[in-house]
Amino acid sequence: MPNQSTCRVCAGTVTEFLDLGQQPLSDAFRLPEDTSAEFTYRLAVGACADCAMVQLMEEVPREKMFHQDYPYLSQGSAVMREHFRALAERFLSTELAGEDPLVVELGCNDGTMLRTVAAAGVRHLGVEPSGAVADLAAEAGVRVRKDFFEESTALSIRDQDGPADLVYAANTFCHIPYVDSILRGVVALLKPGGAFVFEDPYLGDIVEQTSFDQIYDEHFFLFSATSVDAMARRHGLELVDVERLPVHGGEVRYTLALPGARTPSAAVAALLAEEQARGLHDRAVLDGFADRVRAIRTDLLALLEDLKAKGERVVGYGATAKSATVTNLCGIGPDLVEFISDTTPAKQHRLAPGSGIPVRPPAAFADPHPGYALLFAWNHAAEIMAKEEAFREAGGKWILYVPDVHVV
Ligand code: TMP
Repeated sequence: MPNQSTCRVCAGTVTEFLDLGQQPLSDAFRLPEDTSAEFTYRLAVGACADCAMVQLMEEVPREKMFHQDYPYLSQGSAVMREHFRALAERFLSTELAGEDPLVVELGCNDGTMLRTVAAAGVRHLGVEPSGAVADLAAEAGVRVRKDFFEESTALSIRDQDGPADLVYAANTFCHIPYVDSILRGVVALLKPGGAFVFEDPYLGDIVEQTSFDQIYDEHFFLFSATSVDAMARRHGLELVDVERLPVHGGEVRYTLALPGARTPSAAVAALLAEEQARGLHDRAVLDGFADRVRAIRTDLLALLEDLKAKGERVVGYGATAKSATVTNLCGIGPDLVEFISDTTPAKQHRLAPGSGIPVRPPAAFADPHPGYALLFAWNHAAEIMAKEEAFREAGGKWILYVPDVHVV
């Protein structure tokens, strides 16, 4: 009998389809001198038989993940900065084009999206529980409330600022197991014609590309149009638009509105039909995904051990939260990957969670270039490969493990 848990959306039965083992917090980069016991939990993922929502079997308390020292910065990629700037411009000419509009962003991080809104003089509020990144948003002129967003937060924002035209979340809503409180809050906060727009990694892309490293503590849900549609209905909202996005390895931007307020776009019916046709939520499809994950684990470890036996240097590129899933599933430590190069100040000179692989600033990557770079930030491949031409010119090769293990 496979493990089961209770669905966080509909209280149905969630049946496990993949166990990724004991894992640390994916963004808990440790000081080398820290000898305290590392927190771990069992990372496993299952699907709800009733509402199709794919979700983690175990929940990590939010305060353990999102706190003063949360290191991730949205501004760490030029492509993502442009993505959010362009989206903010689009919001300003659509959802925020009315009289004295208000946008509330859940998990605004360093304010990468809201900076453009703030510069346009439009009313906004970022809600961000992670102190240091919230400070960066404030320094950039963004109005921030250091808090977790939930129903009580939404009601207090409505009291202070009035109803919102737009509630937005990027790579945040899928982090939050307590959707009932969030969606009650969103319904209370929105104007009758307003929208809740959120973008998160898409289950369809994860299954197609076997991007199993999208599964980690912070990604509690792996959304699809099917599961988001069911969740929206259950919580007094309606899925009115979906948009496939190329960023972060494949995401969908979902738009929810109050029922009847907007006509659902043709894209919603099309994506629902596509998911049905490919059997995205079928047990056999999810089991096939799990089998491919196990094959990647075997192949990646074999490649790294072979390179080590040949005396080759392998360095990791991008100390992503995703990389914790890979290194800890495969048992990859500093013996196989010398260090990980990363631009994020709060990750540098620390050890990657679980694996203990040192994280170094980008200057270390070229000093001298290694023979091989394991691209943990594969979702930023085009941007990174363009930036690292000197590595290729020095004879360096990239190792990728999505959709399968290959060297380019
Ligand atoms: P992400 O995949 O969750 O966005 O994380 C990307 C990580 O990779 C983040 O820690 C920043 C780092 N990074 C680099 O070190 N160099 C780069 O050129 C880019 C784009 C990201």
